[in-house]
Amino acid sequence: MPSPNPAASGYYGRHIFFCLNERKNGEDSCAMHNAQEGFDRCKAKVKEAGLSGPGKVRVNKAGCLDRCAGGPVAVVYPEAVWYTFVDADDIDEIVESHLKNGEVVERLLLPADVGR
Ligand code: FES
Repeated sequence: MPSPNPAASGYYGRHIFFCLNERKNGEDSCAMHNAQEGFDRCKAKVKEAGLSGPGKVRVNKAGCLDRCAGGPVAVVYPEAVWYTFVDADDIDEIVESHLKNGEVVERLLLPADVGR
């Protein structure tokens, strides 16, 4: 019988993907807006909090997610919540509020109409 909770059937409870795309032609991309630093910070904080691993949280690199105008961007599943972030404090809040406690960080939400 299918589970009503998508997270219950997944290998990870939550999965966050960071766009780390870098365009060689000099066009704007998340890599030009400290995406790598955000990814590294998130990975370290998740590990430090004991949140990483099966049944818990996985932090992954991604290529372009096609929402470049809001970059740097990250998306959390299974909720499919999109974030844009600026600094380490933003990442820490995403880890503490959303990845740990399931509470969406409203102030960092990527507006629905932001695309490429
Ligand atoms: S370059 Fe990051 S979403 Fe496209």
